[in-house]
Amino acid sequence: MGRVASARGRFPVVPTGVRILFVCLGNICRSPTAEGVLRDLLTREAPQLDVEIDSAGTGDYHIGAPPDARSQRAALRRGIDLSALRARQVSPEDFFRFDWILAMDEDNLRDLKALRPTGSTAKLRLFLDFAPPPHPDAVPDPYLGDARGFERVLDLTTAAARGLLAWLEQQAPRSPDAAGGSD
Ligand code: 4NP
Repeated sequence: MGRVASARGRFPVVPTGVRILFVCLGNICRSPTAEGVLRDLLTREAPQLDVEIDSAGTGDYHIGAPPDARSQRAALRRGIDLSALRARQVSPEDFFRFDWILAMDEDNLRDLKALRPTGSTAKLRLFLDFAPPPHPDAVPDPYLGDARGFERVLDLTTAAARGLLAWLEQQAPRSPDAAGGSD
């Protein structure tokens, strides 16, 4: 699975096994950016965490498409390559497979609540709830705007991803190896 961001190697894997799905409307601008930003942070700063990340859109307009070229350029300027990602639509199974489904704006959250199957287990939230205050509620849709909107998406998703990472690190049980035991 190419979209799983668990780093195994010389670090012990903390058995958190958290699954996170980022959701926007088209899955070509905001949610793939959030996916790439969090994956990059985990790889560089918390490779011991076992976190699966994916993204999807509430709409079906761009299924199979790579992230918008403007999102790719903005992310690449910060060293994050989104080119391998492909858009997909949220499915009913996502509400059982993922622990957290994190929406980019209130419309996405409302649509997710309407799609949520009975008995589903995923917790639905706005992604920016994880950003340090003060923060806006939503990651604004940059699709019809200029390049500044795409930079703003990077700024906001990076702030929220840092907050989410701090939260994940608090949840993770400490491994004796990770605590610096001799080997
Ligand atoms: P996203 O941006 O939801 O951040 O991927 C959009 C992409 C495409 C459209 C709307 C928003 N569209 O209407 O095609």
